Amino acid sequence: MEPEAVRRLCVVGAGTMGHQIAMLGALAGCATAVVDVSAEALERAQSSNRAHMARWVQRGRLTEADAERALGRLRWTTSLEDGARDAEFVIEAVIERLDDKRALFTRLDRIAPAPAILATNSSTIRSSLLAAATARPGQVCNMHFFNPPLVMELVEVVMHPETGEATAAAAMGLARQMGRTPVLLRREISGFVVNRILAAIMDEAVRLYEAGIASFEDIDVAVKKGLRHPMGPFELMDMNGIDIAYHVRMQRFGETGDPAQRPARSIVERYERGDYGRKTGRGWYTYPPPPSS
Ligand code: 3HC
Repeated sequence: MEPEAVRRLCVVGAGTMGHQIAMLGALAGCATAVVDVSAEALERAQSSNRAHMARWVQRGRLTEADAERALGRLRWTTSLEDGARDAEFVIEAVIERLDDKRALFTRLDRIAPAPAILATNSSTIRSSLLAAATARPGQVCNMHFFNPPLVMELVEVVMHPETGEATAAAAMGLARQMGRTPVLLRREISGFVVNRILAAIMDEAVRLYEAGIASFEDIDVAVKKGLRHPMGPFELMDMNGIDIAYHVRMQRFGETGDPAQRPARSIVERYERGDYGRKTGRGWYTYPPPPSS
């Protein structure tokens, strides 16, 4: 039996992922509160979603009235109390730092109504670590969206040992309500499914580059033209953030103790220089600064 549609959603974190996840919620009919500590981030998120909806209208994917209705379902706030107090479902999409997320889950547990489900979009932090910071571990799971969420159809729903079946079903249901295709992982595993496969591709690409077999640009061309991937592994690393690539590998190294899991030299160099990819204007490639708004 399909779970009931979610009507009131709260998304915490208005960054790259959070603001588009919130837009998906609003498009799916949810009254959606978007919470961020930074009013500036909320403003950026708001204008980004406006621009995406304008493009959808232009492309005939949505009527102007439906776009306005969806945008009208978004509520922007810097107060977690205000955003989460009546939510049926909360999706956390803040920075990938365990301590910050744990503290946030403890607060959410106090603020959100008792039946509310608390999901994390984290790709690296297992939800059991966050569930332990709450008094409702059975109502906690990972709900991992892909970048950019408005385009990418997949959502990985990941259960930890205490996640209830009803929670998993509700997360799968919400993903479907948002027009996504969910897959269910019944056991926590770092990297889930997609990032394990992606990391293998990226690591091999970096090995080929560091061995001097081909330039990173040519490796990107080879993967795009030879495998029909929409982006090459280096382009994708720049889009997702080289800081993320670095932290994912450090986490894997920490978990396994296997030196082969350490980030490659060329990733460490870029990380240490602060060349994180598109968001800093330089990673593997160089990017023009974003137009000033
Ligand atoms: N946000 C929202 N929509 C976007 C977007 C963005 N950042 N970038 C592009 N789009 C939309 C465009 O508006 C356009 O929509 P339209 O067809 O309705 O006009 C459509 O996507 C195609 O865009 P473009 O024509 O500008 O460019 P491309 O055809 O090159 O597509 C792309 C851009 C969608 C990013 C495509 O290159 C792609 O699919 N790349 C692969 C992305 C991917 O693999 N993501 C997964 C990363 S792994 C991950 O997220 C896991 C995490 O844990 C790190």
